[in-house]
Amino acid sequence: MSGDRTEAAAGAAPLATARLAFVGAGVMAESMIAGLLKQGLIAPDRIVASHPRADRRRRLEDRFGILTDESNREAAAGADLVLLTVKPQVLAQVMKQLHGRLEPRQVAVSVVAGASIDSLSRGLGHDAIVRVMPNTPAQIGQGMSVWTSTPDIDDAQRGQIRSVLGALGEELWVEEEKYVDMATALSATGPTYVFLMMEALIDAGVHMGFPRRIAEQIVLQTVAGSVAFARDSGKHMAELRNMVTSPGGTSAEAIYQMEKGGLRTVFSRAVYAAYQRTQTLGREQAAKERE
Ligand SMILES: NC(=O)c1ccc[n+]([C@@H]2O[C@H](COP(=O)([O-])OP(=O)(O)OC[C@H]3O[C@@H](n4cnc5c(N)ncnc54)[C@H](OP(=O)(O)O)[C@@H]3O)[C@@H](O)[C@H]2O)c1
Repeated sequence: MSGDRTEAAAGAAPLATARLAFVGAGVMAESMIAGLLKQGLIAPDRIVASHPRADRRRRLEDRFGILTDESNREAAAGADLVLLTVKPQVLAQVMKQLHGRLEPRQVAVSVVAGASIDSLSRGLGHDAIVRVMPNTPAQIGQGMSVWTSTPDIDDAQRGQIRSVLGALGEELWVEEEKYVDMATALSATGPTYVFLMMEALIDAGVHMGFPRRIAEQIVLQTVAGSVAFARDSGKHMAELRNMVTSPGGTSAEAIYQMEKGGLRTVFSRAVYAAYQRTQTLGREQAAKERE
């Protein structure tokens, strides 16, 4: 099997000869499988997904033509990447089932929020661990996944992981785990900030007198267009803002009110509070797993 990996690393399709196991095939696993197959990165019969419910297994088989298994242990056996895609509440139980069962060449890839590399490694009795923090736009292939790994992961495995996460949108490897916690506050919680901001803008439009449907259309396109423009121009956000802020104009007046209301500080405090909450939840989860 290690020969497989070397061969895969050399080629342009790192997953072509890989086997993937999704342990707990819910929303996140389904998004990954859909993205991988849509992009033709892997054949369906190289993917196995485990799920306790027969109706769910049938649905996955019918939709994707992948293999399924009721047993998490059976599904994980023989896979190159074992993706842990269960909810945090069932992670301890799943890790118990897999403890000591993974071979050194297998990589456990967890997307479970709050589960640290240390607790995953202890829980699984395994050294090769990847911890990923995706976000909800991953469900339409527009996600931001920030990930880190133990030093045991080689270049071929890294390429495979990049391909899997690339099916969810953008992926970014970080050297230290603390950046995954930070990403939990910035990118994984991020859609919440954006949705709240958009909701507030739509309400403001309705307050002025726009019908809600029209206000929604205007705000959605304004946000989408601004993101595309910011990406395309590569300019600093302040520069882009200055471009639309004429002396004594509407933007200057709106900015004055936002700064007066402490909007920038509110964002900063919200993100930092989410970061601290991530750390607290991680500690609580690790304590539960030790029980
Ligand atoms: N969804 C996102 O956008 C997102 C973003 C960032 C991180 N995440 C992380 O991704 C993980 C999965 O989230 P999700 O939204 O995909 O959750 P989900 O849809 O609930 O998927 C988990 C699946 O695991 C199944 N399951 C329950 N107990 C199991 C067991 N003992 N063994 C195997 N499977 C079992 C569940 O079945 P039942 O439905 O029958 O309970 C469910 O289908 C979470 O840890 C979350 O923190 C998700």
